[in-house]
Amino acid sequence: MAKPVSIQVWNPNGKYRVVSTKSMPGTRWINLLIQQDCRLEICTEKKTILSVEDTIALIGDKCDGVIGQLTEDWGEELFSALSKAGGKAFSNMAVGYNNVDVNAANKHGVAVGNTPGVLTETTAELAASLTLAAARRIVEADEFMRAGLYDGWLPHLFVGNLLKGQTVGVIGAGRIGSAYARMMVEGFKMNLIYFDLYQSTRLEKFVTAYGAFLKANGETPVTWKRAASMDEVLQEADIISLHPILDKTTYHLVNKERLAKMKKEAILINCSRGPVIDEVALVEHLKENPMFRVGLDVFEDEPYMKPGLAELKNAVVVPHIASASKWTREGMATLAALNVLGKIKGYPVWFDANRVEPFLNENAQPPAACPSIVNAKALSLPVSKL
Ligand code: GLV
Repeated sequence: MAKPVSIQVWNPNGKYRVVSTKSMPGTRWINLLIQQDCRLEICTEKKTILSVEDTIALIGDKCDGVIGQLTEDWGEELFSALSKAGGKAFSNMAVGYNNVDVNAANKHGVAVGNTPGVLTETTAELAASLTLAAARRIVEADEFMRAGLYDGWLPHLFVGNLLKGQTVGVIGAGRIGSAYARMMVEGFKMNLIYFDLYQSTRLEKFVTAYGAFLKANGETPVTWKRAASMDEVLQEADIISLHPILDKTTYHLVNKERLAKMKKEAILINCSRGPVIDEVALVEHLKENPMFRVGLDVFEDEPYMKPGLAELKNAVVVPHIASASKWTREGMATLAALNVLGKIKGYPVWFDANRVEPFLNENAQPPAACPSIVNAKALSLPVSKL
C-alpha cells in the first residue's frame, strides 16, 4: 500500500473534495474554493516532484478535481485514478501542458485546464531579462565583483553586445513571442524577423506604427519581416528567442546543424520548454564559440543540466522562473482553481481563454465559467456566451 501523503485541509466539511498537489501563491484561490463548498486538501510533502504513486494516494477514493503542476506526469494512470474517484476536472497550474496526455484525459472524460493570458508579459519580461543579462554579461560581471577581482575601470572589461539597431528573431509569435518582440522592438529599437506558421498581423502593425513614430521624430525607423523559414531567422538575427509549444514537431528544433547556421556572436534565449533545444549540441556549440551566448530558463532534463553547461561562462541559467512574478503566480493559482471549480459546478467554458482579466479582478466575484479548458471541444463542453 502506498504511504499516506501529508496534507493541509481547508473547510473539512465541504461537499466537493479538491486536491492541490502543491501549495500555491496567494490566498484568493483557496477562498474561492472554500466559499463554494469545496473541501480543499493541499499536499505538504517536502519533495519537489511528486511521484505518480504519491499523486494516486492523494486522489484517494473520492476526489472531484485536482490542481496539479507541470512537473507531474498526467497520463493514463492518473486520469484513470481520478475518474475512478469520481473526478471530472484537472487543471495544470501552467499555460504549457506537455506533461498532460490529453487523449488519456478525453478517454476518462476529464476536463484539462491551463492558465493562459496571465503569464504572457511576465514570461516575456524574463526572456528580455535573459537577453540583457547575456548581451551585457551581467552574471559574469557580478561574479567578478563578488570575487574581489575588480581593480579599476578597463577598456576591455566585460565588453558585450549593443542591442539597438540589431535584429531580434522570434520563433513562434504567439502571445508570449509577440509580447517579447514588442518589448525588444520598442524598448531597444531592434528590427524584427519572426517565423510562425500564422501571420502575426497585430505585431506587424505595431512595428510599422512604431517605425513611423521613430521616423517622425528624426530617428531610424525599426522594421519587421516575416521569414519564410526558421533557418532564415537563425541566419539573420542577432538575438533569437524561442517561443514554440513543445510537441513532436518542435523536439530538438534547435540542433547541431541549426546552431551552426546562427551568427558566431548570436544570443539564443529559451523560456519555452527545454527539449526544444538539443542541449548536448548546445554545450558543444558554446564551448567552440565563446562569443555565442545563451540565456536559458528551461532544460532538457529538468531539474538537471547537461554535463558542462554549468561551467560555461557564456551561458546564463535560471531555474524555470519565467512566470514567477507575484501577480502572475497568484493569478495562475486562481485560474487553475477556477478551472476545476467551474467544471465541478457545471459552468460553461469561458469564450476566450486569452481574455481572462475578469477572473483576476480581486474586487469582484469571478464569472461563472471555467477560464480555460484545453479539451473543451473533445468533451463537447458548453461555451459561455458572455
Ligand atoms: C510555465 O512554464 C508554464 O507553462 O506555465
